[in-house]
Amino acid sequence: MPDVQENELDLKPAVSIIEKIEQSRRAENERIRGDDLIPILQEVQKVYGYLPIPVLSWVSERTGISTSRMYGVITFYAQFYLEPHGKHTVRCCRGTACYVRGGRRVINAVKSTLGIDDGETTGDMLFSLETVACLGACALSPVMVVDGTYYGKMTPRRAEQILKQLVEEEA
Ligand code: FES
Repeated sequence: MPDVQENELDLKPAVSIIEKIEQSRRAENERIRGDDLIPILQEVQKVYGYLPIPVLSWVSERTGISTSRMYGVITFYAQFYLEPHGKHTVRCCRGTACYVRGGRRVINAVKSTLGIDDGETTGDMLFSLETVACLGACALSPVMVVDGTYYGKMTPRRAEQILKQLVEEEA
């Protein structure tokens, strides 16, 4: 991953992302257009781990896609992050169906296992925790999602085991 200190940000990865898309558009006698925005943001986030503001400004200048349009998309989709984000994203449900089946205790177990609060990232940049209003799997409540994998009928103990196993795999 490139150095993401804002004042010494490496723009090379962003340049190659845009050049690649420009190339494929040229082959179709076209220029980069608005519907390239989501793939561009996904690629930038894949390389930098988040969407650094200086990179977005540079992409805007280069492509002509306005930064306000970018922010509209970034704030609409939960997959995009403007701040450095952990390698693993843990989402816990705080919705009613999960709450009545012990979701609050699962969230507390996740918080104490990772040592972070909702919206925070661990110091080693391995985990970010988000709580959401509903994960769309109420029948499986309480629900926890790690990197897109759904874990249903969670208990505090299972949540702790799943996270500890991930920590071990990263060691
Ligand atoms: S309320 Fe938790 S998944 Fe819907």
